[in-house]
Amino acid sequence: MRNFLELENVAIEADSTGTSHMLSETPVFSRASGCWLFDTSGKRFFDGTGGSGAINLGHQHPRVVDAAMAQLQKLIHTGCKLQSDVRAELVTKLGAFSPYKQCAVLFTVTGAEAIEAALKVARAYTERKLVIAFERSYHGKTTGALMATWREQLKAYSVLPENGILHSPYPILHSHNQNYSTNFCLQALQKTIEQALDMGHPPAAIVMEPIQVTEGVLPAGREFLSGVIAIAKSAGCLTIFDEIYTGFGRCGTPFYGSQDGITPDLLVIGKALGNGLPISATLGNPTLINALPSGIQTSTFSGQPLACAVGSVVLDIMVETMPWQQAKRTGSLIVEFLKELAINSCLISAPRGEGLMIGFDCVDSQGLPSPELAKAFTKKAMAKGLIFYCGGFEDCTIKLTPPLSMNEEEVEFLMSTLADVVAELEPAFKCH
Ligand SMILES: Cc1ncc(COP(=O)(O)O)c(C=O)c1O
Repeated sequence: MRNFLELENVAIEADSTGTSHMLSETPVFSRASGCWLFDTSGKRFFDGTGGSGAINLGHQHPRVVDAAMAQLQKLIHTGCKLQSDVRAELVTKLGAFSPYKQCAVLFTVTGAEAIEAALKVARAYTERKLVIAFERSYHGKTTGALMATWREQLKAYSVLPENGILHSPYPILHSHNQNYSTNFCLQALQKTIEQALDMGHPPAAIVMEPIQVTEGVLPAGREFLSGVIAIAKSAGCLTIFDEIYTGFGRCGTPFYGSQDGITPDLLVIGKALGNGLPISATLGNPTLINALPSGIQTSTFSGQPLACAVGSVVLDIMVETMPWQQAKRTGSLIVEFLKELAINSCLISAPRGEGLMIGFDCVDSQGLPSPELAKAFTKKAMAKGLIFYCGGFEDCTIKLTPPLSMNEEEVEFLMSTLADVVAELEPAFKCH
């Protein structure tokens, strides 16, 4: 028998997964614990990405690992049409954790798949087709979810017709530009609905992130959220809150959008539900969710026992420890620190965030967005053992979404590393 190393084929990973763009400069990781990733040489890095916002309880949480190990030995997989005890248990717990008095759970595997499922539900219930999303939205990269995603380079790969979607303005609360104000954006939404009606396509749904994350950590604000719900109601369409990133305590509450009496028709969740295992879902009243006929939304791994067992223990830990409380306290501390840093350095501006969903912009000496500085910032931080993503619609936002379980020492590490990076970059970027 030949071994693999003797075979002549050469294999590389596809560029499109982003490994060549971002990760070629990052270490190769082989283990993790809490807030830390360890590379193959044993060097540790603080995970300011929180596994793209999926590791709210920290890496390798002992109860999550135990639940996964126990389930691995009992029942890994059934196929989505067969019921399992852990799946039924998770449905009950999700219902209790959700904002709905009566809740149906539509399981999927990834966030993008859940968005597509929610759009199907809205289309089935309203018997309409058109969807309204927002400028700078991000809802995933499958060809259906790309329809709702805003970025042109991504939307170009959507298979759905251009006239199936309209993008309406979304507020930027820290901007002084009137076109980004709550009132302007609510009026614009009203006009977008009129445009849809003029086209002969009344909308099936308005889909939104309560905080836009990928395009720059931009909270919509409570007034905008309740305004959208009122407008949707009068237009006879459903509201879909994409809480894939903002859910499960990340923003200082169980769900960021769905609180204070604001409840969307459909709530889409993913990421932190599995604390690292792939599982997502759409929640809503059974009369809405069950408008989608049986068999229209299946995928081999949806509702998988292994992922459900983990989701179930994640919810137990959430209910017992309420990690959003700690996220709220830690987040305010970090944002206050960043505000102070922004006063003392012209390199960073507009620190903002809710809980441990935090962003700030890298700017040049004129105060203009500086993608070059954002890249240098990210690189220098990584050399100091701190990892996060930069990006956003102006390519200059540093995004911090660490595990919610950060302790005082880790908060100190994060803040002092950011301060060191700023101090070291100031001479090169000619601040003052
Ligand atoms: C708000 C939002 N929606 C949807 C998605 C897509 O989720 P997934 O990457 O699991 O398909 C993401 C991913 O980052 C997201 O942030």
